[in-house]
Amino acid sequence: MDTIENVLTLDEFRVSEVRNFPAATTELSNLFRDIAFAAKLINVEVNKAGLVDIHGETGTVNVQGEKVKKLDLYAHQQLTGVLKRGISCAGVVSEEMEDVIVFDDKMSIHSKYIVAFDPLDGSSNIDNCISIGTIFGIYLRSSPTGQPCNKEDFMLQGRSTVAAGYVIYGSSTMLVFATSRSVNGFTLDPPIGEFYLSHPNIKCPENGNIYSINHSNYLNYSPGVQKYLDYFLIKNKEEEGSYTMRHVGSMVADLHRNLIKGGIFLNAATNAFPDGRLRLLYECNPWAFIYETAGGRAINGKQRILDVEFKDIHQRTPLFIGSTLMIQQLEMYLAEENL
Ligand code: AHG
Ligand code: MN
Ligand code: MN
Repeated sequence: MDTIENVLTLDEFRVSEVRNFPAATTELSNLFRDIAFAAKLINVEVNKAGLVDIHGETGTVNVQGEKVKKLDLYAHQQLTGVLKRGISCAGVVSEEMEDVIVFDDKMSIHSKYIVAFDPLDGSSNIDNCISIGTIFGIYLRSSPTGQPCNKEDFMLQGRSTVAAGYVIYGSSTMLVFATSRSVNGFTLDPPIGEFYLSHPNIKCPENGNIYSINHSNYLNYSPGVQKYLDYFLIKNKEEEGSYTMRHVGSMVADLHRNLIKGGIFLNAATNAFPDGRLRLLYECNPWAFIYETAGGRAINGKQRILDVEFKDIHQRTPLFIGSTLMIQQLEMYLAEENL
């Protein structure tokens, strides 16, 4: 076991990447540093979430007479602020804002990257001390640098993702990000305030025994999805323990666990949500990029998530993501339903 002195910090890792891979740009590396800083700011507030009821209800006025911000809006503001003050991001799209946010200051207009993020995912779980997260995708803008980016820059497909990642605020706080080369995970050491490379070169196991779905909607899922879920129940009747269902309801927590242990996560179409509940640009694309880089797969039932055509910055899509062999088996059930 490495002692902490032998484990790279996020900064040391960034330097080693730039040294070892000439194609690795410092601009992208700076973005990871900026996002890591925002993650630390958000982490502090997430850890205090339980105190909100003592100091004043979320969304109301606290004892100092200040308006207490909802945590997801706070997370949005921290990420936007840090990226705007940095010099590597030309604009962002966030789950919390209707429209894109263009950084038109004289430094940001020279940046070639744009970022799409879900500042706080699973936020309905905050009140219950359950793990939540942040999700982000990094893309190259298509407009020329030297002028502000524009809305068209965000009309993109997932396959143009340059890098993506997430932060999980759980029993530990971790930052995980993927470039086209690899997926690496860093755990925050709170007293020191540093992220350490705890999970180098993460690979998603080819197969797994975990499935994650909101089973209460079973009767609203398509016949193919229902048959796939039946398969797990039948297998467990034959041999108990073959599969286990785990569903936190924070996709960051569910997908982080399945990425490490192997498994499948499904957010399928229902009557109420015919395109599923999850958003393409800042939830599904980043996760699809992370899983594919780690050797897993992500589909919407018909095609690869990263190939889904852009319609709207807040468009939704069904998401089936996980270990390759589990996705392959799901595809067989989905193909049968179309016969
Ligand atoms: P958000 O908190 O950003 O709105 O996202 C919540 C998402 C996701 O994290 C979770 O997996 C999903 O909503 C839960 O949906 P179901 O209630 O359909 O399970
Ligand atoms: Mn979300
Ligand atoms: Mn959110």
